Amino acid sequence: MKEALLTSNKASDSYSPNEVFFCPEESQFYSQCLDKMVLKHCTPSDSIIEFGAGDGSPVINCLLKTKFDGFIQGYELNSAACKLAQSRIEQYQLKDKYIIDNKCFFKNFPSDASYLIANPPYLPAPDDNLYMPSLHGGKDGATITQKLLSVGCENVLLMISAYSNPVDTIDYAIAQGYQVVDFMISPLRFGYYSCEPKVRNTIAELRNKYKAFYSENIYFLAGVLFKKEDSSNVDISAELLKVMTAL
Ligand SMILES: C[S@@+](CC[C@H](N)C(=O)[O-])C[C@H]1O[C@@H](n2cnc3c(N)ncnc32)[C@H](O)[C@@H]1O
Repeated sequence: MKEALLTSNKASDSYSPNEVFFCPEESQFYSQCLDKMVLKHCTPSDSIIEFGAGDGSPVINCLLKTKFDGFIQGYELNSAACKLAQSRIEQYQLKDKYIIDNKCFFKNFPSDASYLIANPPYLPAPDDNLYMPSLHGGKDGATITQKLLSVGCENVLLMISAYSNPVDTIDYAIAQGYQVVDFMISPLRFGYYSCEPKVRNTIAELRNKYKAFYSENIYFLAGVLFKKEDSSNVDISAELLKVMTAL
């Protein structure tokens, strides 16, 4: 281990949560999913692309604790988040393993990467006039997730929320030729972004249509590893959906 892991960005970097995505519980869970389901299985020839790197902390934390000889190319639209991430990459001397471009993922990603990783925007709302517009995931929260499942990458690790139409999303993945080969699930409390009234109201409407699943206190967030269909895979999408729709 090189140094203590990154635990927070706000205290020292003084961005508001409307400027740079800040939800340590979620970012840390994404980091754990990356570690267990992606980085530990990669070979030096694997190339990884990341949609929406944010402040970079999830990947940086993984790189500080796990031996990884490959390379991760991240994309982040938000210039403040990107600057923060770049300064940390420099601070931890990780430039040979992780680079983030301040560009739109969809306009720039290379088509030959072996893994696509993302904790994508998944807030459902009628429009993107939100505390942080770039966290808008379309009307049902699943628009960007589904777009990422259509770029054709062989292996895709995505964070999927149980209040953002998980059933249609998994069906969509299967229609794109994917199988669910691994997942991890964590209960999360509704936070600053998901408690915004416009978002909360949309989530309640989706629940009436069986497109959002949650309790008064928590929702489930899953890290899901999709692989293109292969006879050696065991598809566990039914098990994933059983848990995601349990509340
Ligand atoms: C939920 S945040 C996740 C940030 C970070 N990966 C984490 O888990 O802490 C999603 C990020 O995607 C970024 N984003 C949204 N649309 C994007 C696009 N088209 N290209 C690149 N980044 C994008 C947002 O600015 C935001 O930082």
